[in-house]
Amino acid sequence: MDKMIVLSGNSNKLLADKISAALKVKQAKALVSRFSDGEIRVKIEENVRGKDVFLIQSTCAPVNENLMELLIMLDATRRASPFRITAVIPYFGYARQDRKDQPRVPITAKLVANLLTGAGASRVLTLDLHAGQIQGFFDIPLDHLYSINAFVDYFKKAKVNNNLVVVSPDVGGIKMARAYAKRFRAGLAIVDKRRNAPDATEVMHILGEVKGKNVIMVDDIIATGSSLVEAAKALRKGGAKKIYAAVAHGVLSSNAIEKIEKSDIDMVVVTDSIPLDSKKKSKKVKVVSVGKLFADAIKRIHFEKSISVLFESIGS
Ligand code: R5P
Repeated sequence: MDKMIVLSGNSNKLLADKISAALKVKQAKALVSRFSDGEIRVKIEENVRGKDVFLIQSTCAPVNENLMELLIMLDATRRASPFRITAVIPYFGYARQDRKDQPRVPITAKLVANLLTGAGASRVLTLDLHAGQIQGFFDIPLDHLYSINAFVDYFKKAKVNNNLVVVSPDVGGIKMARAYAKRFRAGLAIVDKRRNAPDATEVMHILGEVKGKNVIMVDDIIATGSSLVEAAKALRKGGAKKIYAAVAHGVLSSNAIEKIEKSDIDMVVVTDSIPLDSKKKSKKVKVVSVGKLFADAIKRIHFEKSISVLFESIGS
């Protein structure tokens, strides 16, 4: 692996450390700081000429800072003549702005894809995109990982695997929920949700039987917490017993933690694609690492091997 270089921005040092530890590759030194006026200052401190570079950065909050840091690091790296640069983006921000659903709105996910390519990424490695179609926004190869195996192992180890129903908190998440239901040999239910404002959802109906069942809601993102908290309320009303959630990206914005604490949800498990800062800690929120998954994928990309063996195919 002497041709491999692992670099990291500042957004998720903890996960970058886990990935490089699992790879047994020391991270290359890079200065990623700020000039006195707040502009981002980058200097890659090692020779990357002819190297296979993996640059790890989640574009989580502060999203614009972290995205810009990634773009500038890409630019610095590509000007140093590497063989290839893979942007490793465990959490891909702006993914929810992926279509023109109102007049005069941007498709920011596509803009970000263009920026990444323009800045020098040769390929992208990411996890649980909000919508699979975002892959098509890139004209460079994109490898898409899923956290399903990490979550299924977590719940099985925690002995949360009987009398279960897997719940999709919205219609868009059915495919993923079905994959979980198959893995747990559990039933499937769907919450019919309506979003009245960016931070307010209303549950219309529950499709499926949850009475007397333990439920696991599966979702890609928990941001304000509104979707899951409202869904949990409806599930409890419908007679659900324990209520759990498996969520790939713990954005946990606004007063999400407070809402979770007061909610009917017994436990939310998120991955470490986004670091949980001290203000976001709660006894109800647990973290499962995707460090090993990313390390395995990076190794496979480096050695030109298939990566689909690393995750369950979500299918159609
Ligand atoms: C929606 O389509 C997503 O899958 C999530 O359900 C949503 O982004 C969560 O947002 P919030 O936590 O603010 O309800």
